[in-house]
Amino acid sequence: MRIVARDLEAERSYRLLTGIVVPRPIAWVSSLSAGGKVNLAPFSAFTFVSPKPPLLAISVGRKGSVYKDTAINILAREEYVVHIADGSLTEAVHLSSTEFAPDVSEVEELGLATLASEQVKVPRLAAAPIAMECRLRHCLEFGETRSRLIVGEVLVFHIRDELLRQGKIETAELDPIARLGGPNYARLGEIMTLSPVYQTAKS
Ligand SMILES: Cc1cc2nc3c(=O)[nH]c(=O)nc-3n(C[C@H](O)[C@H](O)[C@H](O)COP(=O)(O)O)c2cc1C
Repeated sequence: MRIVARDLEAERSYRLLTGIVVPRPIAWVSSLSAGGKVNLAPFSAFTFVSPKPPLLAISVGRKGSVYKDTAINILAREEYVVHIADGSLTEAVHLSSTEFAPDVSEVEELGLATLASEQVKVPRLAAAPIAMECRLRHCLEFGETRSRLIVGEVLVFHIRDELLRQGKIETAELDPIARLGGPNYARLGEIMTLSPVYQTAKS
């Protein structure tokens, strides 16, 4: 099968890409609306782009011609919280992608408890094993759909105590969920540990 990308509609291209770029980690993002409601939504176009300062990137698309509430809120207030969800939170993550009106809080609708954050006004989710308080640093628009790549600096990492050993995350215990194409999710399978690769010095 050979597909020339130029001939693809955005919708078909999206379906291909979301099936090819797998598994994707999920940024579960809380933000505050203009009216002060806590908005919550998942974003699997998600990675980190720098360790110092720690910078996280999410790509937020549009619903028709308007940006999603998350992008609107982050651009207006310049702060948000990125959570990592574990297997027990899969259904809540999925349901939080429901399109509610901007003044409806997904957190309230789903009955999720929140905690005050330290350096941002946006609350964080009590049930999430990891929460990262973020401040907006960059916003770039890409492509005909004008998806927004939102890059934020992590100000505070909140990590459940037992998940951090000698500065490293215990991945199996974190039990992160990942997004596949469509309404499909995955949990970790086998973890393969290989010997470290050492660089040989060039003379
Ligand atoms: C697991 C999952 C991952 C998602 N990833 C993205 C993404 O990377 N970018 C995006 O624009 N929408 C993504 N969505 C769709 C948004 O979550 C959805 O449009 C949501 O209603 C946006 O909420 P908001 O308007 O409150 O920001 C994803 C949905 C799910 C269920």
